Parts: sequence; structure tokens; C-alpha cells
Amino acid sequence: MRPILWALALAPFTLAVKHEDFKTCAQSSFCRRLKGIAKRQAESTSTFTSPYSVSPPTISDDEGRYTFPITSSLYPEIRFELRVDVLAEGNGIVRLRMDEVASSTGLRRYNETARWALVEAEPMLAGAGDSSVRTEKGKTVIRYGPKEAKLELEIQHSPFKITQSREGRAQVVINEKSLFHMEHFRKKKEKVEAVVGEAEQMVLGGDGVDRAWFEEEDDEAFEERFRQWTDSKPKGPEALSVDITFPGVEHIYGLPEHASPLSLPDTVGPHAHYSDPYRLYNVDIFEYLADSPMALYGAIPLLHAHSASHSVGILNLVGSDTFVDVEHTHTGVHTHWMSESGILDLLLLPGPRPSELFKQNAILTGTTALPPQWSTAYHQCRWNYVDETDVMDVQRRFDEVDIPLDVTWLDIEHAEEHRYFDWDAKHFPDPVRMQEAVAAKGRKMVAIIDPHIKKVDSFRIYSDAKDLDILVKKADGSNFEGWCWTGSSVWVDFFNPNSWDWWTRMFSFATWKDSTPSLFIWNDMNEPSVFDGPEISVPRDTIHHGGWENRDVHNINGMLFHNQTTQALIQRESPAQRPFVLSRSFFAGSQRFSAIWTGDNMGTWDHFAGETAMLLSNNIAGMSFSGADIGGFFGNPSPELLVRWYQAGAFMPFMRAHAHLDTKRREPYLYPEPTRGLIRDAVRTRYALLGVWYNAFHDASTQGWPIMRPQYVVFPEDKDGFAVDDQYYVGGEGLLVKPVTREGATTTEVYIADDQPYYDYFTHSLHPAQATPHNLTLSTPLSAYPVLIQGGSILPIRQRIRRSSPLMWQDPYTLIIALSKSGEAEGQLYSDDGTGYGYEGGEYVWRRFSLSLSAKGKGKKGGKGRMLRSERHPDSMEKEKERNGWAEKVGHVGVEQVVVLGLEEEPRDVKGARGERVEWKWEAGAAAGASGKGEEERASRLVLKKPGVGIVGDWQIEIS
Ligand code: NOJ
Repeated sequence: MRPILWALALAPFTLAVKHEDFKTCAQSSFCRRLKGIAKRQAESTSTFTSPYSVSPPTISDDEGRYTFPITSSLYPEIRFELRVDVLAEGNGIVRLRMDEVASSTGLRRYNETARWALVEAEPMLAGAGDSSVRTEKGKTVIRYGPKEAKLELEIQHSPFKITQSREGRAQVVINEKSLFHMEHFRKKKEKVEAVVGEAEQMVLGGDGVDRAWFEEEDDEAFEERFRQWTDSKPKGPEALSVDITFPGVEHIYGLPEHASPLSLPDTVGPHAHYSDPYRLYNVDIFEYLADSPMALYGAIPLLHAHSASHSVGILNLVGSDTFVDVEHTHTGVHTHWMSESGILDLLLLPGPRPSELFKQNAILTGTTALPPQWSTAYHQCRWNYVDETDVMDVQRRFDEVDIPLDVTWLDIEHAEEHRYFDWDAKHFPDPVRMQEAVAAKGRKMVAIIDPHIKKVDSFRIYSDAKDLDILVKKADGSNFEGWCWTGSSVWVDFFNPNSWDWWTRMFSFATWKDSTPSLFIWNDMNEPSVFDGPEISVPRDTIHHGGWENRDVHNINGMLFHNQTTQALIQRESPAQRPFVLSRSFFAGSQRFSAIWTGDNMGTWDHFAGETAMLLSNNIAGMSFSGADIGGFFGNPSPELLVRWYQAGAFMPFMRAHAHLDTKRREPYLYPEPTRGLIRDAVRTRYALLGVWYNAFHDASTQGWPIMRPQYVVFPEDKDGFAVDDQYYVGGEGLLVKPVTREGATTTEVYIADDQPYYDYFTHSLHPAQATPHNLTLSTPLSAYPVLIQGGSILPIRQRIRRSSPLMWQDPYTLIIALSKSGEAEGQLYSDDGTGYGYEGGEYVWRRFSLSLSAKGKGKKGGKGRMLRSERHPDSMEKEKERNGWAEKVGHVGVEQVVVLGLEEEPRDVKGARGERVEWKWEAGAAAGASGKGEEERASRLVLKKPGVGIVGDWQIEIS
């Protein structure tokens, strides 16, 4: 029997978020207090100055580290400390940490966020002589970074203010608005209203600011109620407020996860688009709004501030509930960060361009793990495929209609009473047989393992975890219990190292006998979702390893769960195979372990339209392997919406269709033509381009580059593109995509920023280069959507699509060469076995393709001779072994066709790698260099058939 479906019981398809379940800033005592400072400051007529001041630094033994004592005139007896680290890597990353020192209460602020988020909790400091410090006239100036960058950190002593500048121009200012405030630990009897007697009031510099002004009376500072829940707040108030201004920029991006535009609109001031700050607090939100600053499932406290002349970034390592106000003014963008607890641990990423910001974030939080290649193909999910027959039926019916499929998913109903690891024997009597039958088709399965553990002694996962004493605790030391899909549940505390080996063991084939190497894992509900908890999560005063409250680590918690699952999958086989884990909750650093998706979206046009911006935000914050449920989780999308969603989904890094238990079945094979055919086309397009996607994943894994790149990243100087968030480039591959998200749209505009021709990926028609940025209006009946190849690109695609991607490993490639305005192009192909770690030891093939104008072999009538080359990718030199297992395995994989778009005229001759004549077909049409006024023309096409070259080894083909 199925337990009650809680979410359904709450509000079946009311299509509205339950606002009342989640706190606003005004309902959170810390946010109310900190926002109060900002409000009083904004309303005050006198000049308000920060009560904080710093003393000159003591220079520690470590070069590159400077420590400043800090005091607040409001609480002279409390000592704070600011530590500035200049980091060795990243061309001038600076880390600012501030904490209260030796509180008489004996309490400590949480200071371990970096341990989980960063690759190294203590990144290496810059060496001796790499930075210098000078203190004079009430300021300390630290110079650091590459000489030519002239990076400076100016720390004004009183009032406390930090300005980071490049070449004399301020780029980040901390505490410009004097909103910096670290609530010191205090005993309850000392609470604010008690200490601010008349005699104790301090007037600061005549501005009328006293303690009460700075810390308003708050009855909830030591105990807070939200609906029926009481938060015991044993440490009392410990909030942290910091204002960070980005002078000279008009756009800031980041702070995922929100259903908001990529360029973050204001939350305060005259142009406020939202009435509440952006909130970072991982929650299981039901039917979230399509345009809202409300918290969602994941949190990455990272921002890019961008202008045509510079880009800077910040990464604020805080894992507690955090609200961020944003306001644009004519001088720059102000942000005000309000966090419930934790130290200040702020990393300043100096840029100066988005490309460097990605590298800098990657140095700190790591890159996207190179996923198994099959996981970049198409995934079919549903809550739920009911039994083994259903699963096998899905395989068969996809094959019948010729739609490729790599992964079939099982949601919570596959597990007996939602006791994950225990299969429901009635519906899945032989899970191994089923997995092997699916694997025989070259496919994989993913099963869900949620973090809530059914609290029954007969369930081994529960009894083990209880015996090991690794469960999340209540304040009184007993195990925390809550309600989730499985009924009364407990949660493993993955902050506890004793849980790690045990969890790994749970996934070993010896322990989990019903699993096979082709079964992978979905970690859902890991915010964590607790149906009867405050804000559908665990109470903030539950306790994790080390005595830390959930309050301190809330946003990090979900990442530890999916990280441990990932480690378990890596360890279950020898030699290790690449894991695949999908997580719903995420934090800075999650990209090192898992893919994520945007949770329970709705099958509506507005949700669909908003997904691109959400995914772009994830991508620029490091979380590239992201996708959205195709079709929308809730509701029944119209065939038109479904087709458009598949077309968009084919260009999301993670491509999965999923649907709620209550929706109508919507596997593509169920639809009549033309819907089915259009979906087939979209999925097959993904498979044709899997090589291109893998290139982009490889770049993400080595460089930290986003896979989906918005306009401001690709064209950082083109102001008109800064707010564009409904189109994007796929990696550095030269593919520009714009999902059609308007119902009934027959035309779609695409913004082109550069002076290059663009070619329709599907029809090869040419949009000539134009000197100024412009919009193209493309015809987009339901069968068409904008996928354009930027002139100057070479795409390695495959034209034979098989029922799953691993079956395509030795199929030949076609090189699509889209000439630039000057008649050249380049591209790449990275390939490896797609599943193992041999690539780390050089077992891969990484080619750079280029088509360049050659000195000799001039064509007739002014036509130009060209050389098409395949050579080892220049970045590959160090690691790629000359002869390696993978190169040998794919030594026979050929290039079956080369298609050159935009040549000026038919060549006289084409000579293959061994000097032999290569057959070609020529279709006259427009040349890449053609000038146009935006009209679409047919591009000339030169098709070289069977050019006799492969994907391994150097070769060249001469076109003259
Ligand atoms: C919530 C997830 O977001 C959704 O994708 C899943 O189907 C349900 N939980 C049931 O597991």
C-alpha cells in the first residue's frame, strides 16, 4: 500500500506556492534586525557612520596574511579580528575572514563552510614578496597580485571600510553603507533591551547612533516562533550583516538558486522588482513561483559584478540562512547580505573578465567533474515506472519509435515502503535481472535514494545508523525524528565522518545485492525536506557533528549527502568508474560531485520560459551540469509546450524528462504525429551533438568554464547583451541556442553581438555578418527553433543515431565547418572511454581542427586555397599519451564527411591526407564573407565524401 502522498494532500495542483510555509525577511528575527539598520540608515537625516574600527595589522609569520584587531564603539569590550589572506593562485584572489575573538560566553561562530565548499579549506598563501603592506594616515594598504593589475586593498581604519581596486579604480567596497555588523555572543540576561539603559547609551560622533539604534529590541533574539514551531536558539543572536558595493557596474549576476532573471533586479529602492531580498536557504518548495526571490533547493553565495570595462566576483562562504538585498544606482550596485550565523569568510575574485572569474572560482570550489558520457544523453524519468514490465516496456517502445534513450529512472515507489535500498519485491521481483536487461541495450538505470530513513528497527539502514550513532540530533541529544515519504524518519548526519565509510559500504555490490554496475543514484529531498518541520525542513536547532546547529550548516547539508553518495559509487568498482548522482540540493562546490536539476517546476509556459535564466545562473556559479524537468513536473503540458520543452531540453547540459505521479503519462512514444516526430527530432539532435557536449563538459572539467554561456560571458564588452538571458552559447563550441518559449510563436528573435556570419544548424542557411549588434528574426514554426553555428566554428557531429549513446562509440564523425567572415574556422574533439578514469593518466584523444587559408594552392577566380588540419590539441600536449588504449581503440573511427559552409566558390581540387583526390559535392550559395542586411541566404556547401581520415593522428586535407 502506498503511504499518503503528502505533497498531494497539501495542495493538489492549486498552482500556487504556499507562501505561508516560508519565512519572509520580516518573519526572520535576524533579517528583521539587520534590515532595520539599513532602514534606519536610509531614513536618517544625519550622517551615519559605522561603529566598527580596525587597528593597524599585526603581520603574521605567514607571508600573505595580515591580521587586524577590530572593535565596535557600541561594545568596546568585545574583540573582533579581521584576517586578510592574499592567495597564491588566481592572479590576486583575496580572502577576508572576520570573527569574534574569545567570547566570554565560550561560544564560537561556525567557521567550517570553507572546509566543505573549497577544494582546499586553506588555499595556499602568496609567497614572500608577493604582497606588500603600508599603514599611514588611518589606512592600511595591501598591494598584491600581478604587477600590471595594480591590485590594492585599502583598509580604512575608522570607520571600518575596505576598498578593493584595480589600477586605482575601486571595484568592490565593503561597508561603504556602514551596514557591517557582527552580533556578538551574549547571555540572555544581557539582551539588547536590557543593556541599553539611558546611562549606557552612547552617542557616536554626534550622529545619534546608539546601541538601540543599531540593534533594535527583539523579543525573538533568544527564541523564535514561526507558525507552530519554536526555535530554541541556544546561542542567541549571532547574525552577520555586510554591505558590498560594486562601483561602476550596471549588472550583477549569480546567487542561485532563484527563479529570477539572470541580471538580478532590485529588491529595494525606487526600482525594486521584488519586495523581499533574495533568499539563500535550501528548501523543498512546492509549486514555486516563476519569478521570485524566494529560496529554492540550492544555494551558491557567489556574485559576478560586470561592466563593459571590468568584471569582479565575490564568493561569500556562508552556509546559514541568508537574505541579500540588491539596489542599482547610477554609481554602481549595492548589495546587503544578512546571514543568521557564521563568520565572515569572503573571497574577492579580481577578474578582470568573466573568463578569469570562472578560473578563480574553479581554483577555490573546483570544477564540474567530468561525467560519464552517457549521462549527457537523454534520460527518461517519471514518478513512477510502476514495475519491471513497465520499465521494459519503456525500452521497447522507445526502440519502436526510433527515439534514443540512455537512462530509465525509478522514483520513490520502487522501494518497499520508501525504505530505499529495499526494492518493492512485488513490482520489482528481480532488480538485477531488470538492470541487466536494460544494460543489454547499452542503457543505464537510476534509482532514487532519499536521505530520510524509515524509523523501523527491521530496516537495516536505520538500525545500522542508530547503532553507529550517526544520526542528526535534537538539542537534547536524542535522535531527531520527522515525517517524510516513508513516514516517521531519521536523517544521517553526513558531517559526522563516521557515516562516510558506512555509507560507502551500503552501495558496495556485496552489501546492496540488488544493485549492478549499471545502476546509478538520484539524491532528492536533501535540503532536507521534512514534511512536518519548519519551512518543510529540519528545525534550525537540530545538532550536527561537532555540536554545530543546522542553522549554521543548513545550506551545506545537502551537498554532503550527495558527495558521500558520489564517493560510494566511485568506490564500488575497481578500477573505479565515473559516478552519476543527481542531487536537488546544492551548495558552492557541488559541481565537483553531482548534477542537479531545478526541482518541481510546472508544465506552464511561464515556468518553461524562466528555466533558461535559472540554468544560466547555475552555470556561471560553477554548477554547469544542470537541467530542468522536460515538460514540467506538475501538470499536463500541451503537445506544443512539450515539443518546445524537448527542443530546449536537447540543449540543456542535463537532459531529463520527468513528471509527477498525478500527471498523464507523457513518454514521447505515446503521442501521435507530428508531436512524436518533433520530439524524436529534438532527442536525435542531442545525440548527433553528443561529441560537442562532451567537448563543453571537458572544458568545464578542466577550466571551470560554464557549459551554458550567457551573452555577457561571451561578449563582455557588448552592453546590449548584458541583460540577455533567454539565449546562450554551448561551451566554447560556437553554437548559439534560443529556446522558443512563447506559445504559438512562428518567429523568434535572436540577438547577435558579433560581426560574424551565423549559419542555421539544421538548414545551413546563412545570416551574413553585420558590423553592428542586431536581432535576427527567424521563422520558428513548431518544427524549428534557433540553433545557430557561429562563423569560425567546426562541430564534430554524428549522423547515425543509435538507441543509446554507448552504442555509437565507433561510429564515424562528420565535421561541420562554418567559415568565419575571413573564411577560416576551428574546433575540437575530446574523446575518451566515457566511463572510467583512464583519461586522468592520458588515455584520451583530443584533437584541434582548423581550416585556414593556405599560402599555396590559390583557387581560381580569386578563390582561396585552404588547409584543413587535425592536430593534437595544444592544451593536450602534457598528458595525452602518444599511444594509449583509447587512441588504439578508436584508431579506426573515421571522419565520414566534411561539410564546409560559406566557401566563396567550388574548389578545383581537394587532396586527402595521402595526396589522393577526394570526391566532393558542391552546392552554390552565399559565401561567409558576404555582406547582408540580415536576409537569410543559402550558404554554399562543399561536402567532402569519405575523406579518408580519422579522429586519431595528425592529418591535413588541402582544398585548392
Ligand atoms: C520531489 C522531487 O522534486 C520530484 O522530482 C520527485 O518525483 C518527488 N520528490 C518524488 O520522489
